[in-house]
Amino acid sequence: MTVPNITLNNGVTIPQLGFGTYQIDPADTKEATLAALEVGYRHIDTAEMYGNEKEVGQAVAASGIAREDIYVTSKLNNGFHERDAALKAFDGTLEALGFEYLDLFLIHWPLPKVGDFVETWKAMEEILASGRVKSIGVSNFQQHHLQRLFDETEVVPAVNQIEVHPYLTQDVLRSFNADNGIATEAWSPIAQGKVLDDSTIVDIADRLGKSPAQVTLRWHIQRGDIVFPKSVTRARVEENFAIFDFELTDADVTAITALNRDERTGPNPDEFNYIPS
Ligand SMILES: NC(=O)c1ccc[n+]([C@@H]2O[C@H](COP(=O)([O-])OP(=O)(O)OC[C@H]3O[C@@H](n4cnc5c(N)ncnc54)[C@H](OP(=O)(O)O)[C@@H]3O)[C@@H](O)[C@H]2O)c1
Repeated sequence: MTVPNITLNNGVTIPQLGFGTYQIDPADTKEATLAALEVGYRHIDTAEMYGNEKEVGQAVAASGIAREDIYVTSKLNNGFHERDAALKAFDGTLEALGFEYLDLFLIHWPLPKVGDFVETWKAMEEILASGRVKSIGVSNFQQHHLQRLFDETEVVPAVNQIEVHPYLTQDVLRSFNADNGIATEAWSPIAQGKVLDDSTIVDIADRLGKSPAQVTLRWHIQRGDIVFPKSVTRARVEENFAIFDFELTDADVTAITALNRDERTGPNPDEFNYIPS
């Protein structure tokens, strides 16, 4: 089963399916990431905030797979929204991962009341110009945050990583991303399990002989978004990877999209200004 690539606005390609590492204990991260790489995942999503960059790097090194064959994303933590702090944080991320370059670096949250994400983005542009990251992007940016970047900075983000799942379909923001050449990455793609007993999804899964998680992930893939489900359970890691040998009908995609309730599992980016101590 081959994972499709998505081409970003700077010509770089990213595997459409990856492995998420949020809430994986650092002590378990090397083993979990190695399991994902063994199953065939070639895209890992981590963040300084998750506290497990070092162990992700250890898994990449131990895998025997060439560095350039694994796509790794990390994110600028919330305490570093100031130029010098951002540059230093990127150095720390590379050092923790043990890499000479990173594939994708994101501003984790816009933090509208903390500093100024436009200045932070200018630091991201400097990091891009240094050649030590292949692409830069944002996470949890709303349309009006993106508009400020378009008006006041040079580089259009390659991706916007936002919460998307059947109970939060984000169709307005996804269209805005697409209209501006920004790829949408869908975090918490199965809403941390909350959508898996939805009867619409269960009925489609039963008809196709697939699991609700597979149907939900396939829905994301057919909508064109990039996903990276997290699991520390080997059987689920395999299950989540096995989504390229079946297709949903247009009616299935429409029925799942109609489940939208604008219901977040995580914070609202317009109201979230948390800085870890
Ligand atoms: N940018 C951001 O602000 C942001 C925020 C949140 C997440 N993310 C990224 O997005 C990734 C995915 O989101 P997420 O970890 O929040 O949630 P998720 O992938 O939607 O769900 C993970 C949860 O679902 C369970 N699970 C996974 N596969 C399953 C399956 N096939 N059947 C039943 N249960 C299954 C996992 O359990 P077990 O592990 O126990 O198997 C875990 O409890 C994160 O890991 C992170 O990389 C980014």
